[in-house]
Amino acid sequence: MSATAPLAIETHALRRVYRAKPNDVVALDGIDLEVAPGEFFGLLGPNGAGKTTLIKILTTLLLPTTGEARIFGFDVVHQTKQIRRIMNMVAGGEQSGYGILEVREQLWMFSQFYGLGSRDGWRRVDELIDAVGLDEQRRQKVSTLSTGQRQKMNFARGLLNDPWIFFLDEPTLGLDVSAARAVRELILSWKAAVPGRTVLLTSHYMAEVDELCERIAIVDHGRVLAIGSPAELKHRVQRESIFRLELDRLDGGTASLARLPGVVAASAAASDEGNGQGDRQSVSVNLVLEDDAALGGVVGALGGLGAQILALRKSEPTLEDVFVELVGRGFDDAPDASRDETPPQGRAANPQPRREDEPAEEELV
Ligand SMILES: Nc1ncnc2c1ncn2[C@@H]1O[C@H](COP(=O)(O)OP(=O)(O)O)[C@@H](O)[C@H]1O
Ligand SMILES: [Mg+2]
Repeated sequence: MSATAPLAIETHALRRVYRAKPNDVVALDGIDLEVAPGEFFGLLGPNGAGKTTLIKILTTLLLPTTGEARIFGFDVVHQTKQIRRIMNMVAGGEQSGYGILEVREQLWMFSQFYGLGSRDGWRRVDELIDAVGLDEQRRQKVSTLSTGQRQKMNFARGLLNDPWIFFLDEPTLGLDVSAARAVRELILSWKAAVPGRTVLLTSHYMAEVDELCERIAIVDHGRVLAIGSPAELKHRVQRESIFRLELDRLDGGTASLARLPGVVAASAAASDEGNGQGDRQSVSVNLVLEDDAALGGVVGALGGLGAQILALRKSEPTLEDVFVELVGRGFDDAPDASRDETPPQGRAANPQPRREDEPAEEELV
């Protein structure tokens, strides 16, 4: 490597527009990012923020509309072969593979796509099966795996070509708590085993990003709103007072609270199932206040709205508070929340993928 070692990820004014009816969608609206080799970098943002679009461009599955992106110095538009050799990707909810194959056969098949020899392939597959803890499922049909086991298998698939940089797009999506923890541990131990390994992880789970990532970019509507370590980002809201309230109801949502003096931001989420009718439903409210003194006004206003306070506590800031402060709403209030629930369909699994949709020369801006 030269004296000026390239960045693991570098993007300049990266923009991506999807042609759609009735209106085109600006999924990425000028992304500038620099990730150093060896970093564990997180992209945190609600559904529809543009995380998957960015990952698809960086993994050469999708062309940018305008702007530039490089992976270890290689251009994502013109040097796809070089990039595909040194990276891999695993997405949450990935359905990659063939249900009728055994786990071992399935991974071996992928090892052949990656160009490992037949014997090397079997050796590597068996190593990885052990590494991800699928020893007992080695001869099991892929279709019979649990969601967590399937994701471990996908993870093993992603390691077959021994990537320098690993893209993980919501890798714990849909997993139960213990399976999600197992996958996070696998990620961390892979990363720690060799210095210089780089991870870009996307998630809309704040706690996950907080736990795993050294640096985070908070993204929304295709833009980077803030970049820093979790501690740096939380420090931004440290000067404010944060309270969590549990209410029996909140008619009219948080808008009425957000207008009160001293309230910087308010977000709410239903605590129980059910919609409106039941009297057992409660509402969790997250309040960012200029200072503690503003709380009195909020409590008074809640009384006026007929809401009863079931619990109230002051708390340390979380990444959600940072997000709320940046955009004035919570993740769960995201307007686009239900727009794109379809998980990626394992395209990344193919080492010779075709890029999606539009040809390179088509500029949509
Ligand atoms: N193939 C597509 N055609 C049109 N719009 C799309 C397409 N894929 C994604 N989008 C839109 O682009 C935006 C960003 O989506 P995405 O990158 O999937 O976000 P995230 O991964 O953060 O949820 C969303 O508004 C989504 O609806
Ligand atoms: Mg996504």
